[in-house]
Amino acid sequence: MTDPKVWLVTGASSGLGRAIAEAALACGDTVVAVGRRAEALAELVSAHPGRVHAMAFDLTAASAAGCVEAAVARHGRVDVLVNSAGRALVGAVEETGDDDLRALMELHFFAPVALVRAVLPHMRGQGSGAIVQISSVGGQLSFPGVGAYSATKFALEGLSEALAAEVAPFGITVLIVEPGAFRTGLHRGDTMHHTAPMSAYDDIVGPVRAQQAAFDGTQPGDPAKAAAAIRTALAAGKPPLRLPLGNDAADAILDHLDSVRREAVEWEHLARSTDFDA
Ligand SMILES: NC(=O)c1ccc[n+]([C@@H]2O[C@H](COP(=O)([O-])OP(=O)(O)OC[C@H]3O[C@@H](n4cnc5c(N)ncnc54)[C@H](OP(=O)(O)O)[C@@H]3O)[C@@H](O)[C@H]2O)c1
Repeated sequence: MTDPKVWLVTGASSGLGRAIAEAALACGDTVVAVGRRAEALAELVSAHPGRVHAMAFDLTAASAAGCVEAAVARHGRVDVLVNSAGRALVGAVEETGDDDLRALMELHFFAPVALVRAVLPHMRGQGSGAIVQISSVGGQLSFPGVGAYSATKFALEGLSEALAAEVAPFGITVLIVEPGAFRTGLHRGDTMHHTAPMSAYDDIVGPVRAQQAAFDGTQPGDPAKAAAAIRTALAAGKPPLRLPLGNDAADAILDHLDSVRREAVEWEHLARSTDFDA
């Protein structure tokens, strides 16, 4: 990759995207910063005159591709695409309507995929590039109340795993990041979305609603350290495909992988019983 690099970061107005953008700027790189709140993006522009290109819009698959073209027209290239824009949705699956599910899928899956498709011709032409997909612990495991959120992150991870193998021959790295609880705007009362609760799920999802809301301001994860860890992983000779971030993420994912393996071994005999008899 060239130095200085051009980063296209969605969700750059807040939280992890903002920290990733600030880390890139601190290293002398240029950032195309996408978010909805123009005033929050303007702070980045004024702090780093000439090195931040702010684009404030509601990110959808339809609006995504244009921003890659604008970035390339202005800066000639995109070296790193970071898909970080996102939001929380808490609710039981039965409580989650199609509109909520499709809107979250648009933001966490279809828009990132549209950005990936738009950026790949340029990265392939350059023979280099990195795509950072901000997933979640919830992209590898799930629990009551976060089924819809997890569905969007599982979708992103599934596609990204295949993508990584497809684009590696072109010198392009795909990094899936799985944060635990980081101190960002994600769990703020005004940004968190909830389904309309059904009383049948009070005991099952109720505690998760309360826990997620109580996260706000108390999360152990430091976004600046997440940004530094992502840079470290990208700079490695062989970056990982998946990068959990935070002690909570490391614990939950390692426990989950152990239990997936235990269950697969326990039921292996049945799995192996279904081929045609030779
Ligand atoms: N923080 C955590 O604990 C945690 C854990 C696991 C995964 N994550 C993931 O990390 C990513 C970043 O979230 P965060 O924690 O940094 O939360 P955040 O501080 O609330 O930031 C969310 C960002 O996404 C942008 N955004 C949301 N909806 C958008 C839309 N429709 N169009 C354009 N931009 C939109 C927001 O822009 P505006 O504010 O300008 O609207 C903001 O910049 C998300 O994908 C989230 O799922 C976070």
